[in-house]
Amino acid sequence: MRTQVAIIGAGPSGLLLGALLHKAGIDTVIVERQSGDYVLGRIRAGVLEQVTVDLLQEVGVDQRLHKEGLVHGGFELLFAGKRHRIDMHQLTGGKQVVVYGQTEVTRDLMDDRAAKGLTTIYEAENVQVHDFDSANPSVTYTKDGQSHTLQCDFIAGCDGFHGVCRASVPEGSIKEYEKVYPFGWLGVLADVPPVSHELIYANTERGFALCSMRSATRSRYYVQVPLTDKVEAWSDERFWADLKDHLDPEARESLVTGPSIEKSIAPLRSFVAEPMRFGRMFLAGDAAHIVPPTGAKGLNLAATDVKYLSDAITEYYGEKSPAGIDHYSQRCLRRIWRAERFSWWFTSLMHQFPETAGFGQKIQEAELDYLIHSESASRALAENYVGLPLNFGE
Ligand code: APR
Ligand code: PHB
Repeated sequence: MRTQVAIIGAGPSGLLLGALLHKAGIDTVIVERQSGDYVLGRIRAGVLEQVTVDLLQEVGVDQRLHKEGLVHGGFELLFAGKRHRIDMHQLTGGKQVVVYGQTEVTRDLMDDRAAKGLTTIYEAENVQVHDFDSANPSVTYTKDGQSHTLQCDFIAGCDGFHGVCRASVPEGSIKEYEKVYPFGWLGVLADVPPVSHELIYANTERGFALCSMRSATRSRYYVQVPLTDKVEAWSDERFWADLKDHLDPEARESLVTGPSIEKSIAPLRSFVAEPMRFGRMFLAGDAAHIVPPTGAKGLNLAATDVKYLSDAITEYYGEKSPAGIDHYSQRCLRRIWRAERFSWWFTSLMHQFPETAGFGQKIQEAELDYLIHSESASRALAENYVGLPLNFGE
């Protein structure tokens, strides 16, 4: 089999890249090691920046998003027992975000790809990438016991943090930057109405909590937990009691609890691999970088990576110019480091760090107090939260 661009991974990065390239008339095959249902079983963040909404609109996969997505013009910061609203809409001259689960984005892109008859090979085993430092790269895999080779012009590594693409790059050609945080997020999904119509990010002496949602009847809540905690030790009752202890009296009063439909613990990590291009192979999304979920930048960064990549590949075929692909890594990394900085800062501001204890807590409260009373500080937060424009600073 032959294609122009072999995409490894059918998460949001791979699927959106496939859709953007298809729109540009470029042929792709996606090779994914899991089944479609497995991919849809992962629960992740759910806040889309305008840039991401625009990209989904560009590929025509925005109908359900516009119908079911919740437009948010603000969010709340809870600290020292009180809530304070950050009016993103007013602070950024009218910008907003859309709350719509990553699972739904993935489902919409998956359905669209299938409806267009584009090839995705699910449950491909032993996926390997070859000769990406030559003009004739290829991908091999096994499916139903048979070996296959996919010849291509380019390989897009959209295969997430544990994927094969980054792991196939010679060690000396890649530099990795990493910070692992000493805690995780315990997340619960439940069919109960959200405690508030906007998100609440809470800083307390007990640690961080987040009240988020998927719809008017489905909530997503998180509390900070030690990395040593096991999810089995967290009954629903224990979770709700702990979450309540993080909230202000009014929210505590109005919190509706119910049985969890998903419960998991995710570690927090900041990670960047440089560069993102190796000959004819490119990394995009979680394959190249991870942000902690505070601020929900992961999916949005993945979306802008693949936009830059589709622009670069389209320029290569259309104008016979390698300028775009030569510039890909640098262009992405500038935006990525800005999002890394914001996610690290917001994480540092909101979580309890065991090593700084009481002093750290007081400093965080002082910074939050400054943040809500200084318009320029609030604006800096709002501007980063809604997301920087696609060509910011270029
Ligand atoms: N071969 C084929 N597919 C693979 C391989 C492999 N060796 N390894 C991993 N994959 C697949 C995974 O099964 C997964 O479906 O690649 C896909 C990667 O998807 P994601 O991990 O969702 O990464 P990405 O598409 O970059 O999405 C980034 O996901 O983690 C969140 O916060 C992050 O929102 C961001 C988004
Ligand atoms: C979520 O809804 O899962 C979510 C929202 C905002 C975040 C992180 C996660 O910052």
